[in-house]
Amino acid sequence: MSVQSKTAPEEAKTTNPKVLAFVEEAKKLFNPEQVVWCDGSKKEYQRMLKSLVDGGTALWLNPEKRPNSILVRSDPLDVARVEDQTYICSKSKDDAGPTNNWFDPAEMKATLTKLYDGAMAGRTMYVVPYSMGPVGSPIAGIGVMVTDSAYAVANMHIMTRVGDQVWKALGQSEDFVRGMHTVGYPLSTPATADVPWPCNKTKYISHFPETREIWSYGSGYGGNALLGKKCHALRIASVKARDEGWMAEHMLILKLTNPQGKVKFIAAAFPSACGKTNLAMLNPTVPGWKAETIGDDICWMKFGDDGRLYAINPETGFFGVAPGTSNESNVNAMKTLHANCIYSNVALTDDGDVWWEQMGTTPEHTVDWMRRSWTPSSGRPAAHPNARFTAPAAQCPVIAKEWEDPKGVPIDAILFGGRRASVVPLVTEAENWQQGTFLGAIMASEKTAAASGVKGDIRRDPMAMLPFCGYHMGDYFAHWLKMGEKGGAKMPKIFYVNWFRKNGDGKFMWPGYSENSRVLKWIFERCDGTAKAVDTPIGKLPAEGALDVSGLKVTPDDINELTTLDREGWKAELPLIKEHFATFGAKLPKALNAELASLEKRLG
Ligand code: GTP
Ligand code: SPV
Ligand code: MN
Repeated sequence: MSVQSKTAPEEAKTTNPKVLAFVEEAKKLFNPEQVVWCDGSKKEYQRMLKSLVDGGTALWLNPEKRPNSILVRSDPLDVARVEDQTYICSKSKDDAGPTNNWFDPAEMKATLTKLYDGAMAGRTMYVVPYSMGPVGSPIAGIGVMVTDSAYAVANMHIMTRVGDQVWKALGQSEDFVRGMHTVGYPLSTPATADVPWPCNKTKYISHFPETREIWSYGSGYGGNALLGKKCHALRIASVKARDEGWMAEHMLILKLTNPQGKVKFIAAAFPSACGKTNLAMLNPTVPGWKAETIGDDICWMKFGDDGRLYAINPETGFFGVAPGTSNESNVNAMKTLHANCIYSNVALTDDGDVWWEQMGTTPEHTVDWMRRSWTPSSGRPAAHPNARFTAPAAQCPVIAKEWEDPKGVPIDAILFGGRRASVVPLVTEAENWQQGTFLGAIMASEKTAAASGVKGDIRRDPMAMLPFCGYHMGDYFAHWLKMGEKGGAKMPKIFYVNWFRKNGDGKFMWPGYSENSRVLKWIFERCDGTAKAVDTPIGKLPAEGALDVSGLKVTPDDINELTTLDREGWKAELPLIKEHFATFGAKLPKALNAELASLEKRLG
């Protein structure tokens, strides 16, 4: 795949000695055929797409249907994040905590150095300077990634701010994240044939939080390979945020405007494939209300001069779940996808367009994500359940004008939520930051296809950060509480939502999607103190009539069930919460145990 044109820049674009040393080290280790310093230009992006198509990794979609867009089908064994092979290599095992795989940093580097040795033979090593967040924003952060994957480079172009302006912003500073990525498939001799999706059975997604390094091996897909996203913006950034007194969270950010023109900014943490992209772009069904997108996956928050929490979206694109996305569920995502996108593991229609389950009319024939002929009677999905689109955020028709504001947007409310078929109500308001932190800490959700492994069972996923917290989760809870103490009354209100309650027939009780605007309205009005609520042992629930359900086809019984405390259900949760809390040992903040004790007492 050494198709990269030799006209591409091989000389360094910076004089920063730390960057030069890092790239030199990587070059020695990987032994690539050539080194290319990426400039982030449109021309370079087009070169990447062309090299992917010429090399057989991608194909052009029909330009009349999807201009300037490609389809990529991965190796069937490289389709999602690999949590079992993801490591936090802090010096002390205790710093990684019970929820992360830990490995001694020196041993991990020794292991990976062997695997890295010559791993880019016959390939190009791209040097990608990127900024997470508007370049120069006080909340943003810089990374330098080396990779042998043109697919990763093209995705990084959409998802982050790549280019020479990053070298300028970095100057001679040492404050950048060093990321090394290889697919682990060297073209050892000139005769070694490349494959459409080079990767390796052996995979390591390793993080060195103390030295702000990421070493990724063997996978080319999503969060394993786009190092700016989960590896940098969550796992490494969460550690940096703890050290420096800010927050790096797995949250969407949206701007909500009421009919009187009043604005609130809401951040929401839902686990992977639990509805962030959808909520971030929703079209409210409540008349007069407007929602606009700031971000759909990651949120960095720092205190502003006025003592409030200000958030930026560190990304510039959406790496969204394709299946389920349609004009009915998320028309704004569909519009965002009109051109200039990368599609991974979706199906190809006979007229050169993309298709996935629930996108709309089912075609009579497609080529499925495994490149096999597919018809509706094939008895298997045409798109992989974790098929994704990579789309420029700027193309989103409801992107908010503030989305690239370097100072960020002030957050009024934080939502937690997961997939819970029972027990957890549609919406609960925490009494205060401490109880909100407790609700975040006990969050649970059914597993989805976003990570390899079995889906379906319920797992605790505190703050939707289980796979993404770069340090001990007990310390992470303590950090949340500390932030609350610092921000005091200026902290956002916290809510716990659940769009996924099911009835006896296994059907969703709540219509979700655009109708979630009804819940957002209640949240908005709770922030202003106008909507009514009732106190319950788990927090405040909407008072009868407080939730705007006018015109909604949900039976009053169902609304009642969705917004009433399930006392027995919560009592049955208590031992599970205790078990969950016990895993954090002495690092579990006392305040959270106190919240649990108080909940137990109130439940009676
Ligand atoms: P990641 O990108 O993995 O972090 O996922 P995400 O949290 O952005 O999830 P996304 O919005 O892509 O939604 C994932 C799946 O949940 C899709 O199949 C959606 O159709 C479905 N979904 C989203 N919102 C709702 C909802 O309100 N109700 C129901 N029933 N399903 C929803
Ligand atoms: C997630 O799994 O939460 C994602 C997709 O947003 S990935 O980038 O693959 O992590
Ligand atoms: Mn995510």
